[in-house]
Amino acid sequence: MINAAVLISGSGSNLQALIDQSAAGEMPAKIKLVISNNPDAFGLERAKQAGIPSIVVRHTDFNSREEFDRAMSYHLDQAKVDLVILAGFMRILSEFFVENFQERLINIHPSLLPKFPGTNTHSRVLEAGEEWHGASIHFVVPEVDAGPIILQGRIKVRENDTAESLQQRVHKVEHQIYPLAVSWFAANRLTISGERVLLDDEISAEQLQTFEL
Ligand code: GRF
Repeated sequence: MINAAVLISGSGSNLQALIDQSAAGEMPAKIKLVISNNPDAFGLERAKQAGIPSIVVRHTDFNSREEFDRAMSYHLDQAKVDLVILAGFMRILSEFFVENFQERLINIHPSLLPKFPGTNTHSRVLEAGEEWHGASIHFVVPEVDAGPIILQGRIKVRENDTAESLQQRVHKVEHQIYPLAVSWFAANRLTISGERVLLDDEISAEQLQTFEL
């Protein structure tokens, strides 16, 4: 069993999926701490309901990105976490933070990276006429929405899809793949090999999953 922290800024539906899987004994990771930069994040309420300690670290209280990151690092170090999970955390992290948690910092992004880094992924996917859309979980590197990919979940884009319908379906995919990726990490099944992540020492078909949602 590993100890994890989840960083959020908003609704925290991914946090909820992680809480639920951990409570069900399906994910060998205990969420020890939730940090939000936003005091109004609904995810804080989810942490409270689950009896998980949470801390608000407001980025507006600091003069620089790095000072803010150092404050978060302090709390994460105190909590002795093995893994830091970004789940809708809407701040760009400094090189200091990324290096401090190198190879134990993961993020979820709502696109099939390396396609569509950045924001508004759902409408951009529609505009581009993509056949597939989905979500990616990756180790974090200083470059935003880059880094070795652990697991992707994909769905087929439908003719009548809108940005909203895609967002809803991608969210469902996220809630399934994030606990799985954390489980792989917790079970020590992941190795970073250059730009790629190996599962049980090989590139596995399990790392790209197709959902009928
Ligand atoms: C998710 O779509 C995630 O991919 C992105 O931010 C969103 C967070 O949603 N990074 P929630 O707060 O977990 O509901």
